[in-house]
Amino acid sequence: MTDPTTPATGGPLVVRTPDELRRALDGRGRVGLVPTMGALHGGHRTLMRLAREKAETVVVSVFVNPLQFGPNEDLDRYPRDLPADVGVCAEEGVDVVFAPEVETMYPAEQMVTVDAGAMGERLEGASRPGHFTGVLTVVTKLFQLVRPDLAVFGEKDAQQIALVRRMVVDLNLPVEIVGAPTLRDADGLASSSRNVYLDAEHRDSALTLSRALRAGVEATAGGAEGVREAARAVLDEAAKATPPVELDYLALVDPATFAEASPEHRGDAVLAVAARVGPTRLIDNVSVTL
Ligand code: PAF
Repeated sequence: MTDPTTPATGGPLVVRTPDELRRALDGRGRVGLVPTMGALHGGHRTLMRLAREKAETVVVSVFVNPLQFGPNEDLDRYPRDLPADVGVCAEEGVDVVFAPEVETMYPAEQMVTVDAGAMGERLEGASRPGHFTGVLTVVTKLFQLVRPDLAVFGEKDAQQIALVRRMVVDLNLPVEIVGAPTLRDADGLASSSRNVYLDAEHRDSALTLSRALRAGVEATAGGAEGVREAARAVLDEAAKATPPVELDYLALVDPATFAEASPEHRGDAVLAVAARVGPTRLIDNVSVTL
């Protein structure tokens, strides 16, 4: 597709190339960007609504970024449905959807990347080497292409938004980063594009992640160790369930650096968990104050 297209219903302008994007944004007021990999769900709607409140023009990017997937990860089976995503954007009053092809974003091998540093090697970065370098590189490219005044990221990916905030400061990028609270189903499961992989049994086991985080929040009187122990007890039980929850990490970290919180830690911290339920890897986190 080379021409920008607008659905008959008068939804967002869908653009596929940097030139089309520039033409679509020319002369528009304050731009808010919501970067996504598509498979849009309620959590993304929260981000779009926040962008709508704060900006005159809302751009949603839909791009499954190969650079942030490891060799054995779910790049090939990651859910992709652009017409459905454009439908969600239309319902949310989004102005422009930027949906580039891989060849448009990476016309040649990406030799220069944005290194996520030590902070990008902890937790998610330790489990997914190179992941955050891939994320920060594509986010920088999107910032350059869209030139937004603000960009909205979900707090469900706590380490991602902390790294993006840090990158914006360290590299003097002229964009405001806005965090949107995690959207949860009534049973506590955090909204995620990967939830579509869960059947009913796996979904039941997956609920343990938010249960463990709640147990941690309720144990703040016991300090950092109390929080970790309470959450771990729930996950230990879940490891014996059917299907089992295979814990990747449970960590209580400093929200700015994602370094492990010491037993004496006081103030804000993030309790973060990652686990595999069947073939699906899920992450979740919650803020705690000690
Ligand atoms: O959070 C995501 O969906 C992705 O990591 C992002 C920020 C769109 C970069 O590809």
